[in-house]
Amino acid sequence: MSSTTLRRLRRNSLIRDWVKETELHPKNIILPFFVVEGKGVQEPIKSMPGVYHLSIDNLIKDLRSAPQIHSVLLFGIPNKKDKSGSGAYKKEGITQKAIRALKKEFKDLIVISDVCLCGFTSNGHCGIIKNGRIDNDASIKALAKIALSHAEAGADFVAPSAMMDGQVKAIRQALNKKGFKDTGILAYSAKYASNFYGPFREALDSAPQFGDRKSYQMDFRNANEALREIEEDIKEGADIIMVKPALAYLDIIYRAKQKFNIPIAAYNVSGEYTMLQGLANSVGDGRDRPLQLFIEVLTSIKRAGADFIITYFGKEILRWIK
Ligand code: PBG
Repeated sequence: MSSTTLRRLRRNSLIRDWVKETELHPKNIILPFFVVEGKGVQEPIKSMPGVYHLSIDNLIKDLRSAPQIHSVLLFGIPNKKDKSGSGAYKKEGITQKAIRALKKEFKDLIVISDVCLCGFTSNGHCGIIKNGRIDNDASIKALAKIALSHAEAGADFVAPSAMMDGQVKAIRQALNKKGFKDTGILAYSAKYASNFYGPFREALDSAPQFGDRKSYQMDFRNANEALREIEEDIKEGADIIMVKPALAYLDIIYRAKQKFNIPIAAYNVSGEYTMLQGLANSVGDGRDRPLQLFIEVLTSIKRAGADFIITYFGKEILRWIK
């Protein structure tokens, strides 16, 4: 006779639910949105099934129809790009307008804004280019200016994603100097130069026009270095840190959780989303296949140690949790 008794706790769903260790909560989910100029725009993003470019009016409609959403991450897409990415810090820039509109419309929504240059520069890089190279000092100055303009518009958290050295400190100082002590920083701390960003770059039309992002985003062969990046960002004033992507980097999330006592966000990025949608469709029996697949994946990200998960599947997951 087997002495193993582990199956007793798996006997039926009532017991399984009762003993489960990990559970997704609506507050764990951060929903990204791609906001464009204009009115009445709802343009599907080809490489990301179920994800759209939305104008501000439609973004508001979308959020009204999904009251379970606690927090959003905004990516503004300008009509025009230029060399210095000046659209990123204009008072009437697309991101700034979207932040103002959401903060006016929704009392209980946490608005987080992506702070970067790549969606606004004609060369598609995340920093300022001088003499053919990324100039770190000029870049963090620009990032601080962008973050400040988002804070002025009412953002609760700014999320610098450019992977420039010292970006968190520059932003923290700029915010404090202008009296935005309460505006938080969700730092993309361990952001890897990943092949999983492809669909996103199509959405933002932000693929670098020359070279790649390997001189600022992390090398995927490194893990210890991620802990250094995170440690630096915490010292510089980050309130929440992020690991990105999530799925191929669960070890990083786990190690960050063991080592640091700070909320951790994980970005389940565009390529991971599209890959899972593809798998769900190819197996395709049963209509809730994508849902079951995403529940498993997002739960694994939380199990590894993430407090927040940024996911394009957020709406469906929130509906399911409810
Ligand atoms: C750029 C940025 C990227 C993502 C978020 N901010 C991609 C990149 O570095 O090209 C990726 C998000 C995704 O793939 O879902 N600052």
